Amino acid sequence: MKVPGRGDGTGRGHGGSLVAPVSRADFRRVAGRFASGIVVVSTSLDGIGHAMTVTAFTSVSLEPLLVLFCAEKIARFHDAVLATRTWAVSVLNEDSGKTARWLATRGRPLEGQLDAFRHHPGPLTAAPILDDALAAMECRTTAVHDGGDHSIVVGEVLAVSEPKPGSAPLLYYASGYARLTDSSA
Ligand SMILES: Cc1cc2nc3c(=O)[nH]c(=O)nc-3n(C[C@H](O)[C@H](O)[C@H](O)COP(=O)(O)O)c2cc1C
Repeated sequence: MKVPGRGDGTGRGHGGSLVAPVSRADFRRVAGRFASGIVVVSTSLDGIGHAMTVTAFTSVSLEPLLVLFCAEKIARFHDAVLATRTWAVSVLNEDSGKTARWLATRGRPLEGQLDAFRHHPGPLTAAPILDDALAAMECRTTAVHDGGDHSIVVGEVLAVSEPKPGSAPLLYYASGYARLTDSSA
């Protein structure tokens, strides 16, 4: 059903049509209008570095220091991070498109998946941290909430670092990678 956005007396949908019910495609398109940065979330399980590209990441709380990310329940990273309960977040810089694409590729080999990208173990968690990251955090899981086909993983921030401070971020917008062209907005 498409409800006309103008003149329908509802005050909704000005400048566009109201769409209801919402299909997956509608949801993806509209949710994709929220521009975000991109992170790689990682963990170390039995000596193997697991990692995954994530945009569903946000800081949550200052007291205590909390962040969260959403992990699809069918992703292999999901079970790995629920088992270890410790993880790292690497904020990608604008030259890391290849890293983002590779660590979003379903079914890529687990062992050695980070070999092509310089990284080091987080001192507190052993989770791999990308040497080219703008910023990084090491975290310990404090809660896991159900979020439909995802789990919402909340973690306390144990340590932060800035492996490559001052570089520009990689962005994600409308299903595509983007760069900041004007940081004064
Ligand atoms: C730009 C981008 C952002 C993504 N963000 C998320 C996310 O926030 N949470 C998530 O679970 N998967 C996200 N994914 C998908 C996962 O990266 C992908 O499903 C996962 O790496 C598959 O690995 P697997 O085969 O080991 O399960 C994203 C993919 C891309 C390309």
